[in-house]
Amino acid sequence: MTSPHIVLVGLMGSGKSSVGRRLAEVLDRPFVDSDDEIEASERRTIAQIFADDGEDFFRDVEARVVADLLGARPASVIATGGGVVLRAENRDRLIDHCVVWLRADVETLCRRVERNPHERPLLGDDPLGRLTRLASDRGALYAEIADITIDVDTRSLGEVVTLIADSIAPTTGARS
Ligand code: S3P
Repeated sequence: MTSPHIVLVGLMGSGKSSVGRRLAEVLDRPFVDSDDEIEASERRTIAQIFADDGEDFFRDVEARVVADLLGARPASVIATGGGVVLRAENRDRLIDHCVVWLRADVETLCRRVERNPHERPLLGDDPLGRLTRLASDRGALYAEIADITIDVDTRSLGEVVTLIADSIAPTTGARS
């Protein structure tokens, strides 16, 4: 693969969309968010998809959308949903790309997701408990596919973006 996508992974609230948007500007690449693409293709919100058809259906749509995005050109920055690592077929596709894991403590994530909890059906009415469980279930999966891991707890958006741009420059030919 000559020109892989840069794919941001991590739990809800880790900043994938905000970091991805800014990183794409810095690298002069297109930015795409897989959750937005899912909502556009289904013409309903993620909360509605979960409520109407359940998580398995959502994961089917997610796998299809992610496969399409990873197969498309030009090389882009792609923000994924936190659960993208759950399916082996997604992980198998992601490892062909430059995967950046935005890692954060659950307390940090919880603070951030509480700003708009209704958008995230998996969190229910116990965000801290659910995020703790998700972090333990998924941590090894993120680690398995990540080329670059950035701890975001104490870093500003700009610092995270600069760190990623500096880390990927040698592998993608991008200028930081
Ligand atoms: C999910 C994360 C969400 C969204 C869906 C499921 C998850 O995306 O895809 O609610 O399983 O962690 P964000 O990580 O962008 O919030």
